[in-house]
Amino acid sequence: MSTDFILDELRELKALNLLREYKTIEGAQGPYVYINGKSYLSFCSNDYLGLANHPKIKQAAIDSIHQYGWGAGASRLVSGTMTLHQELEKKIAEFKGTEAALLFPTGYMANLGALCAFVSKGDIVVGDKLNHASIIDGCRLSGATFRIYPHKDVSQLESLLQRSSGYRRKLVVTDSVFSMDGDTAPLTEIAGIAKKYDAILMVDDAHATGVFGKQGKGLIEHYSLEGKIDIVMGSFSKAIGSVGGFIAGSKPLIDFLKNKARPFIYTTALPPAVCAASLTGLTLIQEDASLINRLWKNIACLKSQLSKFMNTITIGSPIVPIILGSAEETLSASQKLYHYGIQIPAIRPPTVPPDTSRLRISLMATHNEYDIKRLTETLQLIGLLKCEQARATSG
Ligand SMILES: Cc1ncc(COP(=O)(O)O)c(C=O)c1O
Repeated sequence: MSTDFILDELRELKALNLLREYKTIEGAQGPYVYINGKSYLSFCSNDYLGLANHPKIKQAAIDSIHQYGWGAGASRLVSGTMTLHQELEKKIAEFKGTEAALLFPTGYMANLGALCAFVSKGDIVVGDKLNHASIIDGCRLSGATFRIYPHKDVSQLESLLQRSSGYRRKLVVTDSVFSMDGDTAPLTEIAGIAKKYDAILMVDDAHATGVFGKQGKGLIEHYSLEGKIDIVMGSFSKAIGSVGGFIAGSKPLIDFLKNKARPFIYTTALPPAVCAASLTGLTLIQEDASLINRLWKNIACLKSQLSKFMNTITIGSPIVPIILGSAEETLSASQKLYHYGIQIPAIRPPTVPPDTSRLRISLMATHNEYDIKRLTETLQLIGLLKCEQARATSG
């Protein structure tokens, strides 16, 4: 069969300014990264607390390699379950205030695994329009009827559930912090509606874990909803600075997943050193409140800098989108920033809806006031903060 379509489609993507390419970071992650031997100020990492290159986390991984070696050798149910997997599951369950937890190799696989395990043909799953791709893929793959409500529109959610009495099971799923917009879901209302219609509630707390809540436990803690969410999903790859995903919930729910979640069953367990790093990340979050405080200080600093240029600005998380609309304009803005030594990639469809291409700024605790000032000055220099369409809407 001819493979000409590959080049045709790549050319088409390029013509539409939608071709995706990556830049290679030489050295470690941090507020400054090296690309092609040059230092760039980075505002695009999910390593919100700057833990990806933290000395204690690196040491924990090194120590663990000495004790446990590198690979886990098999899937969890065959012979891959090691002491550190269990320690991390116990710790994340305690952290999230649930009875039990289960690790997955990535957050993406946790979403896919849980959704496909809990709903299938004959069930209905209802989700926010701006849920993360891994949730959308899980909903589609599950075979359940999949309905979407407009972003954060709880009355539409309720009306969808009202009309779903014929289904065997109902499941409501939402991001807590939306990954490309940085705004937060109305979790209290959603939990009330899910309960009213006897629907299972699943919350993806990936971008809130280590960021929200007095103890950094996430948006569920922030809204005092611990114990009220059936399926708590999270990732170690954002503020915890590591890799891996998890589902936390009741013991029977976790036992069910061990038996039904294919992305848990049919893949090799995470290397134990990854678990050691995640364990240390969680401990640092619990023991050093200054990490989260510094992040929120930076969020306030960016807000104050941007408010000099924008009348209405709501920033409620480390994720701050500057929505420019067209892919071409966004790509060009990203290239200009790169020219001035700042790294913020252009986020374009299908990651975001058509005509909402954006620069997604993400802040880290390890940025300083000078870095943030340099960002706003450069945004101004390239004409973005005067641009009429530009708006920052996270909150
Ligand atoms: C909201 C959300 N859920 C899940 C994921 C997937 O997590 P991971 O990167 O651990 O696969 C991401 C990140 O890409 C995300 O933004």
